[in-house]
Amino acid sequence: IPVAPFVLTVFGATGDLARRKLLPALFHRDLDGQIPDEAVIIGVSRRPLSDEEFRNFARQALVDHVPEAELEGPELDRFLGRLSYIAANADADPGWPELAHRVSSLPSHVPVYYLATAPHLFGPICERLGKFGLAENGRVVIEKPIGKDLASALALNEQVGKIFTEDQVYRIDHYLGKETVQNLMALRFANALFEPLWNNAHIDHVQITVAEALGVEERAGYYDTAGAMRDMVQNHMLQLLCLVAMEPPASLEADAVRDEKLKVLRALKPIDDHNMAAVTVRGQYRAGASAGGAVPGYLDELGSSHSETETFVAVKAEVENWRWAGVPFYLRTGKRLASRVSEIVVGFRPVPHSVFGEGVGAIEQNRLVIRLQPDEGVKLWLMIKDPGPGGIRLTHVPLDMSFAKAFKVRNPDAYERLLLDVVRGNQTLFMRRDEVEAAWRWVDPILNAWRHTKEAPRPYTAGTWGPSAAIALIERDGRTWLEDG
Ligand code: BG6
Repeated sequence: IPVAPFVLTVFGATGDLARRKLLPALFHRDLDGQIPDEAVIIGVSRRPLSDEEFRNFARQALVDHVPEAELEGPELDRFLGRLSYIAANADADPGWPELAHRVSSLPSHVPVYYLATAPHLFGPICERLGKFGLAENGRVVIEKPIGKDLASALALNEQVGKIFTEDQVYRIDHYLGKETVQNLMALRFANALFEPLWNNAHIDHVQITVAEALGVEERAGYYDTAGAMRDMVQNHMLQLLCLVAMEPPASLEADAVRDEKLKVLRALKPIDDHNMAAVTVRGQYRAGASAGGAVPGYLDELGSSHSETETFVAVKAEVENWRWAGVPFYLRTGKRLASRVSEIVVGFRPVPHSVFGEGVGAIEQNRLVIRLQPDEGVKLWLMIKDPGPGGIRLTHVPLDMSFAKAFKVRNPDAYERLLLDVVRGNQTLFMRRDEVEAAWRWVDPILNAWRHTKEAPRPYTAGTWGPSAAIALIERDGRTWLEDG
């Protein structure tokens, strides 16, 4: 079903995000017939380009990021025909009257402004959108990083909030647009099976792993100012934790969901100078090997002899409320780890008593594994009897549901869902201002504690699962990290 007609202005239209994600996502929605005929897409950046040159840029972006077969039909030219271009600068007026003219000539279209630019431009762009009368009825989309700490996040939210009301602001966390992340809500709230067990009486611990095999490569400049805590934990990982830990919302209405996530963020046990060493590990990769051969270390990629930036984080987090008291949430993320795998593992408590006696094999804990990528799916690990005529032997096997096998449809990219949600005016999968700020309130003292310590991030060899201290972090509690469920 097509969405309402919209006029989408993409600032930073010749940048990496537009090229790799936004243009391919819009094209895919167009292919599926969800973009109405009247929809208009305006690219804005500083470069002086004609409409034709921007269309050529977009064509190349699609050639690079969309399977060839999908570009063969007439849809490609129809999509490119929607595009036009205006050169404008965030801190000067030229170009803006033209943009204002084009947007106001489409009064029945939903005006959307996507700020795919460096974050320091968010404030100036919003200011100009206000100055040129574009903010009224408009929706503005901003990407992380939303600040680099609580103070800068407050300042940024304030700047944007001067021009746009909160219901006009869409803070994207693309993890919330991933199919399996949304499936977490379906699993929890559309099944009678799990919710009665979803608490500290039945759950032993939760693990959330977002492991990447790639290094920082050409993003080293940005990455060195951020590090894994700001780049992944403050946003994506905490959002995943919230979806696992939140109370059932009364509905999927945006504020109903966001209120529940906020309560989780506020219930996180503080980590500061006192407990930082016991519950966090930060690491930085050294040269090593990946599937494709030898790879350089972080400092080589950065072109520097020194950096304290972490490319790996492990944290033992705790949610201090009745449902979760005593249940650790182990979070782990890093670059250049052994493989690319993102998953949530919910480990259930052991059975209270074994009726099987000796020699049947250990009774392993049940586990629910939600695999975000690659090979999206859900696994439920159960104990069963090993088949055979002998006596009872127990074995641990998964009920395994692979999305690719179960549904023969293309798995849409997170941006496809999220972009159209903006046009639909649905903020459920976007972060509210207070959520972002609450996440920083938890993260800031950890970053400060790391700054206060004399210990550098622990080295780990590229292509491994991170520093040995991260393994010790969970093993001290008698548990182990699980990859692949
Ligand atoms: C981004 C981070 O938000 O997420 C990147 O800035 C990271 O450093 C990326 O690589 C991971 O996203 P995905 O969708 O590939 O898991």
